[in-house]
Amino acid sequence: MKILAIETSCDETAAAVVEDGTRIISNAVASSKEIHEKYGGIVPEMAAREQLKYIIPVITEALPGLSGSDLEIPNGLTPLRTVVNKTIDAIAVTVGPGLIGSLLVGVETAKTIAFVTGKPIIPVNHVLAHVYANFVSSSSEGQNSSRAQSRDNLLTIEFPAISLVVSGGHTELYLMESMKKLRWLGGTLDDAAGEAFDKTARLLGFGAQGGPAIEHTALKFRVKSSKFRVSLPRPMIGDESLNFSFSGLKTAVMREWIKYPQPSKEVINAFAHEIQEAITDVLVEKTLRASRQHNVRSILLSGGVAANTRLREKFRVKNSAFRVFVPPPALCTDNAVYIASCAHFLGKPQDWRKIAAVPDLSVEKNIS
Ligand code: KG4
Ligand code: ZN
Repeated sequence: MKILAIETSCDETAAAVVEDGTRIISNAVASSKEIHEKYGGIVPEMAAREQLKYIIPVITEALPGLSGSDLEIPNGLTPLRTVVNKTIDAIAVTVGPGLIGSLLVGVETAKTIAFVTGKPIIPVNHVLAHVYANFVSSSSEGQNSSRAQSRDNLLTIEFPAISLVVSGGHTELYLMESMKKLRWLGGTLDDAAGEAFDKTARLLGFGAQGGPAIEHTALKFRVKSSKFRVSLPRPMIGDESLNFSFSGLKTAVMREWIKYPQPSKEVINAFAHEIQEAITDVLVEKTLRASRQHNVRSILLSGGVAANTRLREKFRVKNSAFRVFVPPPALCTDNAVYIASCAHFLGKPQDWRKIAAVPDLSVEKNIS
């Protein structure tokens, strides 16, 4: 079964085709990040306006057999109908949570494709979908070997598993009893881990891409030789619950940072290093605690923050009891591949008339 998925919940415009929930046939992503850079954060109206420009080229790129101006008005519907009817079994689309203007671009496009082709359409919760980036693999090695690789992914991840979703808006821990059975265990009480990276990065003077900027700058800090040290709290690290809180960390950074009106490079590097250490310490500790409590075999990481090299490294170094799985960085950040995979494993097709964008869609707590 081949699913064409569309994802436009934040500043990315993405479309992908995935077969049987595991094999990536195509993956197209366009981002408007650079436009937001000078504003220090994503400007929702600008993101949606760019998505209107990108959505047709991105779908054209993702659909095998379509090219160039095939989808242009007034004749675009005929090639679209032909290609979708020949190659695609269902459409999936992110319906929330996300920015309303952005979500609408993807949702209305997906509904139109479902309407003109008569294909089933499956609404997807973006946060939960991140988890499924762990079950897909690319077709670059050729069809047969990639099929085997996808099957291997499914077989090597042993259940039960703990799944940590760490993105710009969410920090959630799930107990996964199978591919189709998940229970929410805890999440952030205030800011998400990605938000903590982004907000503290802004304090340090970086632009909109906070997480990667902190990671890059932290690498320049020389732990042994630097005379400068900054010390930050690890919020809720000792707390028995599986919840997180990162807003206090942001305040702590602010309180320390104002002591240095003209920070040297060494000071900036030390702050970046300590921010990254504080956030990743908490994420690792809580995830390992959840894994011990629930006696699991595997840990699955996903979401934009899972692209962080230091986080990946700490899971390897600080733990030998569980097998840790992390998607390649390009599948951690937003794309439509995991939307298609989640739709395959969990999705329920609906009448296109009933599909609507839900910006504040809540985290699903029990999936069985
Ligand atoms: O999953 P994602 O692409 O979008 C949301 O669903 O939110 O996650 C974006 C978040 C941003 O906060 C970004 O700063 C963070 O992921 N991020 C990183 C890294 N790459 C992206 N955080 C730390 N280190 C990274 N390398
Ligand atoms: Zn995301």
